[in-house]
Amino acid sequence: MTDTSYVEETAARAAASGQSATARFRERSIEGATADRERVSRLASRVIKAINDTVIDERVTYDEYNALKAWLIKVGEDGEWPLFLDVWVEHSVEEVANDHRAGSKGTIEGPYYVEDAPTLPWNGTVPMRDDEPGRPLLFQGQVRSVDGTPLPSAKIELWHADNLGFYSQFAPGLPEWNLRGTFIADDDGRFEIHTIEPAPYQIPTDGACGQLIAAAGWHAWRPAHLHLKVSHEGYELLTTQLYFPGDPHNDDDIAGAVKPELILDPSPRANGDGYEVVYDFVLDPQ
Ligand code: DHB
Ligand code: FE
Repeated sequence: MTDTSYVEETAARAAASGQSATARFRERSIEGATADRERVSRLASRVIKAINDTVIDERVTYDEYNALKAWLIKVGEDGEWPLFLDVWVEHSVEEVANDHRAGSKGTIEGPYYVEDAPTLPWNGTVPMRDDEPGRPLLFQGQVRSVDGTPLPSAKIELWHADNLGFYSQFAPGLPEWNLRGTFIADDDGRFEIHTIEPAPYQIPTDGACGQLIAAAGWHAWRPAHLHLKVSHEGYELLTTQLYFPGDPHNDDDIAGAVKPELILDPSPRANGDGYEVVYDFVLDPQ
């Protein structure tokens, strides 16, 4: 593949990812939040005030105000509200939601989760293409309660980008469940999942979010990551991500979702076939 066609192909897929993320979010979220009038008024007033304060402090001009209006319209047209919110807002929502937990650290879900990925045994291989590019990764560990009790048959949902940074069901051209699986731990809460190492992910650069990033001189990168949801009856669902050491974007993730506890420590497999890593999950009782 030439450089030009690679760029064209990845740009086309990035555009499609925004539209798919919006469509998926609509499907999953038919009911709105509870409409407590005082709460709505308080939150809306604070956000509006923060914008007005910025306008006054920064002496925002009509040209800038009109650029903002045009840009906000484009975020919607490009289907990029889920991307915008999950990159720049979700991390603080997650921080508030999970600050009471004693167990494993969570982090943002992001826009690319899909429910009901194929169910696989505790030592299964995530669905992938025959020639799936990327270094093999054996991801193993145990799911326990905060008191140390193993949690038999805990559910581990794993989804991640491929070796080009694309997610199945969002970027076109990938098999439906590529690199998405639901694993059921053994009687001792253990799992041994076979997958490939994902590539760093660049948030789509060809839509409104990319326009903002370029105009501000920021970068669009998230470090390579595995997404996980770990659950067991009677315990709080853990939504998290795991990262790889040495990724240059672990320190400046555009989505602000990296935590030191979430960086893996992989080592080469003794059989020479890629990498292996152990990571245990600790769930909080409900
Ligand atoms: C976005 C993408 C991700 O893969 C992720 O984990 C978080 C956010 C995004 O494009 O908004
Ligand atoms: Fe992601």
